Amino acid sequence: MLLKTASWPEVETYLTRSTGIVIPIGSMEQHGPNGLVGTDALCPEIIAHEAANEAGFLAGPTFSVGMAQHHLAFPGSITLRPSTMIAALNDWITSLAGHGFRQIYFLNGHGGNINTLSAAFSEYYANWSMRGEACPVVLKQRNWWELGGVMPACKRLFPAGDGSHATASEVSLTYYGYPEAVKRVEMHPKTAPDGTFTDAADFRRNFPDGRCGSDPSQATPEKGAELAKIAKASLIQEVSSFFKSPAHNQAAE
Ligand code: NI
Repeated sequence: MLLKTASWPEVETYLTRSTGIVIPIGSMEQHGPNGLVGTDALCPEIIAHEAANEAGFLAGPTFSVGMAQHHLAFPGSITLRPSTMIAALNDWITSLAGHGFRQIYFLNGHGGNINTLSAAFSEYYANWSMRGEACPVVLKQRNWWELGGVMPACKRLFPAGDGSHATASEVSLTYYGYPEAVKRVEMHPKTAPDGTFTDAADFRRNFPDGRCGSDPSQATPEKGAELAKIAKASLIQEVSSFFKSPAHNQAAE
């Protein structure tokens, strides 16, 4: 079930059988010459929606704009400052917690979100800790490429040139979800350099076409379908176990 197409009575009924929700979280940032700007939001969304429809859990709206300051030298990239993102995430979590959601699972599609998402969780937990109260909500983040079986499949499908940004794997997954958006572009060098970066200007200087270590010209919808299938099965398994996490002060409610 998807929150965006559910009615409020359906959500109310859902809460009588489960207090868990999955929130896809990503980024709106350049993904090289043939990757979609929405790649990091679309990958977790595709996996979460397929899993939610198959397993019957609730998937919330995608937190589509994340912490992507280092991509701002490429047109179309949008960022939240870490402080803005922490505040926005806390408003999302507080809203959901107010309705009785107790297990909130963020399926992440962007490496640049990891630290800020962790900080947002600490900010939320601090509200309770500093009052000496037990937080009723359990928060979890998982990168989609770290779901069971996904990395081995990426390595098998792309033995060379999967890379670390604008990867052949993530571009494949979006091509599977949006076959009408497949782009064929010749890239030089075939496999991009990898390395480090600081701000947006430094990133553009080091990675002129936006890729890091990848050859996404290998991306196909068929390979994306394979990754989606593995990720979906693993997410269903992980989420069904996470949704059984006890909410600490359930007895007091
Ligand atoms: Ni990405």
